Amino acid sequence: MSVLLSNWSKHAHAVPASYVLQQEKRPKNLNAVCKSIPVIDLGQLGGPDRADVLQQIMKACQDFGIFQVINHGVSEELMEDTMSLFKEFFDMPAEEKAEYYSEDRTKTFRLYTSGLNYNKDDVNFWKDSVRHLCHPLEDYVQSWPEKPARYREVVGAYAVEVRKLSMRILDLICEGLGIKVGYFGNEISKVQGFIVNHYPPCPDPSLVLGIGGHCDPNLLTLLQQDVHGLQIFKDGQWAGVEPLPHAFVINVCNQLEVVSNGKLKSAEHRAVTNTSVARTSLVTFISPSMECVIEPAKAIASESSPPLFRSYQYKEFHEIFMDKAQPKNTAVESLKLRV
Ligand code: OGA
Ligand code: NI
Repeated sequence: MSVLLSNWSKHAHAVPASYVLQQEKRPKNLNAVCKSIPVIDLGQLGGPDRADVLQQIMKACQDFGIFQVINHGVSEELMEDTMSLFKEFFDMPAEEKAEYYSEDRTKTFRLYTSGLNYNKDDVNFWKDSVRHLCHPLEDYVQSWPEKPARYREVVGAYAVEVRKLSMRILDLICEGLGIKVGYFGNEISKVQGFIVNHYPPCPDPSLVLGIGGHCDPNLLTLLQQDVHGLQIFKDGQWAGVEPLPHAFVINVCNQLEVVSNGKLKSAEHRAVTNTSVARTSLVTFISPSMECVIEPAKAIASESSPPLFRSYQYKEFHEIFMDKAQPKNTAVESLKLRV
């Protein structure tokens, strides 16, 4: 499996041509940090400042489409354990990883490299990824790796905890939007995908991207990182989302933008690389089932604020999103009603 970066990149002294971006697409300001991204303390929700916390969440979803949460209830030990398990996974010998590698996108578990398809990507991205489904656990755990030995145990516990946090955040968003608490507790959040991205050190980070700019197509994304590299596009420039120990980065995604009738915005983001340390990000995607019908919530769209989007099945959106001809951050635009 020599295509996996985690197998060959430590011996590379230069970036191979297939990874080098066109001049105008190369990342600048690799180390810039956006200090104004809100960091919200969910520990305050039980106290007198509850309304203030709710307001911080809503403001962050409107102004940034991204925020970080601390004191969120997922155990720090479990977060550390899961992160180290994946560092171990990508450090396994090439022969052991080979049994998990696949270019078949229909597989429920997959280890792959670059973007959608290593051989077909216009330019390769500087990352390897693991991807699988998580919910309900008993349906998927058998398809997960048996190496490292604790994979199923650790990732299983992590998936359950992160799901609880996701549903809690979605309920807070319901409250903030003034829609029924529990609105997201059905088909719209049924699928829980997990992608672990691994970005090895790169000989020249100014020539490559770890993942290109995009908005996530799903409902809500929760990301754990411990090394700088995630950036958002804000006010005409790219800047980093500071890695905070034990925090989750929460992303408003395209479906939340539609349900909120455009009140909440999804953040365009990407990842850059560095020369010295491997960066691993653990990304949980809460998504609708393919059959789920998505539309602006009735309680939000009204006569005074007519629906901006037509209703559609998630599979329709997904097809548009996956269509390479369509720039990714405009998928949601194509479902806009002309009002
Ligand atoms: C993603 C993503 C960013 C990162 O997987 O959708 O945006 O830091 N990842 O890995
Ligand atoms: Ni993303």
